Amino acid sequence: MKSLITGCAGFIGSHLAEKLLREGHEVIGIDCFTDYYPRTIKENNIKNVLGNKKFTFIEEDLVDMLEFPKVDYVFHQAAQAGVRASWGKDFEIYTRNNILATQKLLEYYKDRNLRKFVYASSSSIYGNVTELPIREETPKNPFSPYGVTKLAAENLCNLYYMNYGTPTVSLRYFTVYGPRQRPDMAINKFVKAALNGGVIEEYGDAKQTRDFTYISDAVQANLQAALSNVKGESFNIGGGSRISVIELVKLIKDAVGKEVQIKHIEAQKGDVRDTYADTTKARKLIGYVPEIGIKDGVKKYVDSFKT
Ligand SMILES: NC(=O)c1ccc[n+]([C@@H]2O[C@H](COP(=O)([O-])OP(=O)(O)OC[C@H]3O[C@@H](n4cnc5c(N)ncnc54)[C@H](O)[C@@H]3O)[C@@H](O)[C@H]2O)c1
Repeated sequence: MKSLITGCAGFIGSHLAEKLLREGHEVIGIDCFTDYYPRTIKENNIKNVLGNKKFTFIEEDLVDMLEFPKVDYVFHQAAQAGVRASWGKDFEIYTRNNILATQKLLEYYKDRNLRKFVYASSSSIYGNVTELPIREETPKNPFSPYGVTKLAAENLCNLYYMNYGTPTVSLRYFTVYGPRQRPDMAINKFVKAALNGGVIEEYGDAKQTRDFTYISDAVQANLQAALSNVKGESFNIGGGSRISVIELVKLIKDAVGKEVQIKHIEAQKGDVRDTYADTTKARKLIGYVPEIGIKDGVKKYVDSFKT
């Protein structure tokens, strides 16, 4: 089996590459090292796979590529991530890397006999919901420009499926965390601050809640989506652990074993109040069952900083 992973040097893409290689796939990774966070971090993310004979890395910008590799599976992880940075002038980067890049891939692969095109969607497409848990049918009202671009790209996947039969599946990740998590994400910042005696910045009243998904569960969902018979479907991929920021900081404090300093700052534009995934559909159709709860996950993550 040959697989393409876009955004392969990123947090989720690099873990997925390791997993697919372990499963015996030949993997081609594409990444252009966008400057959203430092290149050195991304180079470090793929250092374990670069020496693998079954791994090929292409440093290219998806939007500028005229051709893509011949593969059986595409795992499209590349995007400009992050909710808070998606306002203002930078929205152009989001439309380019999230919408245009997805359209280019779909247009290229639409009649190339792919087994599956798995798209990394996001819980941010739902926005602020009135009912929890969030089901796949819950209305989509993105609350940030980032969410708008992730929803647009998911819609593109659906319409290539409906018009061309491209076997797309969208995985709506709910806050993924674990080793190599992006440096802009809360758990990463909090753990580093807790370990190094820094200050944890809590936004708003810190009672906002998130469903946190451990990286190995998100990666497993990709594999299950690829190998299942489903196409033209979207799935919530959550960790089954919905906790508030206050509770999260307590878990981190316990795992680190130190007191932490907390500073309260104002709520951020684009941040939703709560997320919590109903993963019944993913369980039924692709056999997805998250294995790592938040307490164990935070402990594993904290331990990964010590090795
Ligand atoms: N991490 C999460 O909690 C989370 C939650 C929901 C959805 N997602 C989605 O999952 C995917 C992976 O997220 P992540 O946290 O690993 O982000 P990441 O920023 O670590 O990885 C994305 C990678 O894509 C690359 N990239 C961006 N635009 C590109 C382009 N035009 N050409 C080539 N490479 C390009 C970047 O250089 C980066 O290495 C993204 O699509 C993101 O929107 C992530």
